[in-house]
Amino acid sequence: MLKTRKRRLPHLDSEAFRTALIDWYESNRRELPWRRTNDPYRIWISEIMLQQTQVKTVIPYFERFVQEFPNLAALRRASEPEVLSLWQGLGYYRRAKNLLVAAKIAKSVPQSYSELLELPGIGRYTAAAIASIAFGERRAAVDGNVERVISRLCCIDASASKLKRNCESVSQGAMGDANPGDWNQALMELGATVCRPFEPQCDKCPVAKFCKANQTATQSKYPIAKPTAKPKKLVHACVCPVHKGKVGLCKIASGQWWAGMWEFPRTEVDTTETPMTAAERLGFADLQGLLIVKHSVTQYSITLHSFVARAKKQKRELSWFSQDAIAELPMPAAQRKVADALKHAVIST
Ligand code: ADE
Repeated sequence: MLKTRKRRLPHLDSEAFRTALIDWYESNRRELPWRRTNDPYRIWISEIMLQQTQVKTVIPYFERFVQEFPNLAALRRASEPEVLSLWQGLGYYRRAKNLLVAAKIAKSVPQSYSELLELPGIGRYTAAAIASIAFGERRAAVDGNVERVISRLCCIDASASKLKRNCESVSQGAMGDANPGDWNQALMELGATVCRPFEPQCDKCPVAKFCKANQTATQSKYPIAKPTAKPKKLVHACVCPVHKGKVGLCKIASGQWWAGMWEFPRTEVDTTETPMTAAERLGFADLQGLLIVKHSVTQYSITLHSFVARAKKQKRELSWFSQDAIAELPMPAAQRKVADALKHAVIST
């Protein structure tokens, strides 16, 4: 039983609309590695990587991942650091951790939308994408691209979760007899390549004549943006302790951002102190400034100040690595930039 209510929109629920969309998709679809396979495992991996990440970024990560772990059995044998290493740079590391947990829970690749929904890291969108593409299940998959396409086609004056629900029910109702995997991917493809956020290419759009925003020149109004909170500013300081050519790092504890990855000892900088005094609290002296990195995590905008300290001895609460070994460790992107700067700083002194 479908949870989404079917929303009847005569101008979309028509054979002419489906034919225009699917014909366009068949001749314009990008050749992507996960479109060359019917293997549900590979489709699963691709959809997890594609969450909040652009196609061109995902391609090399996907290729490396399925080469290293070609099937569920291989992934199930992997350790979290191995998976995180392959994921490094793709961001949103919780996806990788959930994927590994899901692989260990599942006896085989789940065969339906409802089985997929039971797994950690798989929500309605991802379950619908995998189930429709791998198993031909009739489930509308609505991501940001599809939301934009449908909100413009129908001039939907809603935002956030209400908009998503509306779009799901429109897509579910309009899907008709089309192949559900092609249907969902055609809408995604249209959003990614033609119905773009800015300057949509309506002259190239196969369904422009069905589009209410096109008819009323209101494309830029849709989708209605959800009110966004201003990012909160945080300042962090970290120290790269160096002793006899080795560098001290710590593993990030569970429950924190980037848990399971490695970082230089780090602390928050209070508004009453300088980054240097905060760094000294970590127990190191004679600090030299190294690099300042700005990065964002969810609703936070973080400035990370890094310092180098010549440690007198190896502290036991840290793990000590050579520069080459650090290159192999999974690290958050900002910390990786610090590690790269350290490598050059140490080489040049
Ligand atoms: N984004 C999410 N899933 C996708 C897919 N299967 N093809 C292209 N872009 C996508």
